[in-house]
Amino acid sequence: MIQGIILDLDGVICDTAKFHFEAWKRLAEDYGYILTETDNEALKGVSRANSLKLILQKANTTLSTEQFEIDLIRKNQWYLELVEEMDSSYLLEGVANFFEKAISLNIPLALGSASKNANLALEKVGLLNKFTAIVDANHVVNGKPNPETFLKAAQLLQIAPENCIVFEDSASGIKAAVDGKMFAVGIGNQKDLPLANYCIPNLGAFDFNTL
Ligand code: BG6
Ligand code: MG
Repeated sequence: MIQGIILDLDGVICDTAKFHFEAWKRLAEDYGYILTETDNEALKGVSRANSLKLILQKANTTLSTEQFEIDLIRKNQWYLELVEEMDSSYLLEGVANFFEKAISLNIPLALGSASKNANLALEKVGLLNKFTAIVDANHVVNGKPNPETFLKAAQLLQIAPENCIVFEDSASGIKAAVDGKMFAVGIGNQKDLPLANYCIPNLGAFDFNTL
């Protein structure tokens, strides 16, 4: 029986997945590499540093430890410039209704994000105070696909993982949810998220009667 909802942020709640892509694409150009949408699929849900490692592999290049850290900062600065422009119009389809419905049904909500910028993005779209618990990359040792993010969120909700439903747009996040023994709903295509219990295009398509 589902008693708690855990939501990923980027690409599930707000349209920030495209900002990450834009900023990584800009950085990859410095390495002479054109980052594609397909490449980007593998970066979703992946931490900032691991994303850069994957991009460097694709670009077949390496960086000194110092330059690696500098480039992480550059990417994040570009990303933050884009986030700065955000307001509630950047919520993805159906998100506002989804929150209203969950709150009216008294189902607690937790965030389970791989981002270190989660609080800022939630504040920008006006949802920061809607969560009972927030777990992001600042709070875990092992990021997605390790289940730690979602297990910690369930623990903070004081709900058994088996009684939590996770909404995720990344393959690594879906694996984390499944390995954490949670019910995993993919936001996107089953082709990209084969481990998801099922997929829907956005939170607006979720039927609360199925809970
Ligand atoms: C995830 C995104 O939510 O957060 C990834 O899907 C991103 O694309 C990761 O790399 C880390 O985000 P940040 O904000 O800490 O750089
Ligand atoms: Mg995501």
